[in-house]
Amino acid sequence: MESNAPRVAVLYATAQGSTRDIAEFIAAYLTERGADVEAADVHHAPDLSNFGAVVLGSAVHDMDLLPAATAYTRAHRDELSRRDLWIFSVGLSPALQGPIGRRIGPIVPKRIAALCGSVYPWEYRAFAGHYDGIGVSWKARMLYRLMGGGRYGDLRDWTAIRDWSDGIARGLGLRQPATTALP
Ligand SMILES: Cc1cc2nc3c(=O)[nH]c(=O)nc-3n(C[C@H](O)[C@H](O)[C@H](O)COP(=O)(O)O)c2cc1C
Repeated sequence: MESNAPRVAVLYATAQGSTRDIAEFIAAYLTERGADVEAADVHHAPDLSNFGAVVLGSAVHDMDLLPAATAYTRAHRDELSRRDLWIFSVGLSPALQGPIGRRIGPIVPKRIAALCGSVYPWEYRAFAGHYDGIGVSWKARMLYRLMGGGRYGDLRDWTAIRDWSDGIARGLGLRQPATTALP
């Protein structure tokens, strides 16, 4: 007998792994809610003809998605546009605090907004990632502090990630409850 479970591809582009962790959590959550899910790096993305829905995530570098995520989205623009699509990014802006940070944080970088606009996702969401400042220039760290970013380390908000996953599950009509433990 064929399963009626929606087939969902959870695709990600990561430099240091925190986006992959989030994608794997979303995949596990949707699986528990009853979806048939495959999670993969965009470099090893499955053929989308087998999937009705896609969740696509990327780390943010230099106010843009990683080149692999951008290239994948451009190359598969038509297929993505025709599917139920959710996009998330993983960067620093949701972790910015104070009066300046609260003003700047919600602004979607231009190139990300343009790319999202080209594939019509149901929703785009930015999550805070992991930032230890290693390999980042003194100037970039100073800018981060001036914009209201005082914190380093693992800044991921797993409750927010679970709540967003719940919205996807509801959008897909998944009714099964989930008890996926937060990391
Ligand atoms: C070289 C570099 C550039 C970055 N540029 C940005 C940026 O422009 N905006 C932002 O919000 N975060 C930026 N970040 C922070 C990363 O997006 C954050 O560390 C994220 O968690 C990385 O995800 P990953 O672990 O999946 O690679 C940058 C990090 C690095 C190392």
